[in-house]
Amino acid sequence: MIKKEIIDALNGQLNKEFHSAYIYLGMSAYASSNGFNGCAKWFNMQYQEEVTHAMKLFRYLEEQGANIKLKDIKALNIKADSIVDVFKKAYKHEQKMTNSLNDLSDLAMKHKDHATYSLLQWYINEQVEEEALFSEIIDKFTMVGNDGYGLYSIDKELGARVFIDPTAEV
Ligand code: FEO
Repeated sequence: MIKKEIIDALNGQLNKEFHSAYIYLGMSAYASSNGFNGCAKWFNMQYQEEVTHAMKLFRYLEEQGANIKLKDIKALNIKADSIVDVFKKAYKHEQKMTNSLNDLSDLAMKHKDHATYSLLQWYINEQVEEEALFSEIIDKFTMVGNDGYGLYSIDKELGARVFIDPTAEV
C-alpha cells in the first residue's frame, strides 16, 4: 500500500509537470510573438511532452488507488531579453525539476517503496536527456550571437521537431 507522504509528494510532482507544460506553452507564445516560429513549434512540442510526463504520474496514482489532487497552475510572466534567454530560463527550470525528482526518489527509497522508486528512475533518466537538449540549444544560440542568418537557421532547425510521446510503450 502506497504511503500518504508519497502520494502527497507525487501529487506535488504531478502539479509541477503540468506547470512545466504551462511554462513551455507560455514560452511558445513568447517565441511566436517575437518572430521565432520554429522555436514556438519546438516549445509547443515540449509542452505536449510535459503533459505526457504528468499523465504518466496520473496513471500511476490511479493504478495505486491513490487520491489524485489537482492543484492550481500558475501562469508564468515571461520576461526575456532574447530567445536564448528563454532557453536559459527553461534549462534552469529543468534543473529544478531534476532536483525535485531526486528528492522524490530519496523519499521513495526512505519508505522502501520500490514501485514508486522504479517509476521515478524513468523520470530521472528523462531529465538527463532534457537537460542535455536545452544545454545543446543554448550552445548553438550562443555560438551565433546576434547573427541574423545563424538565428534564422537555428529557428528553422528547431521548427523541424516532431512530437514523440516519450511515455509510449515500445
Ligand atoms: Fe517533465 Fe521537463 O520535466
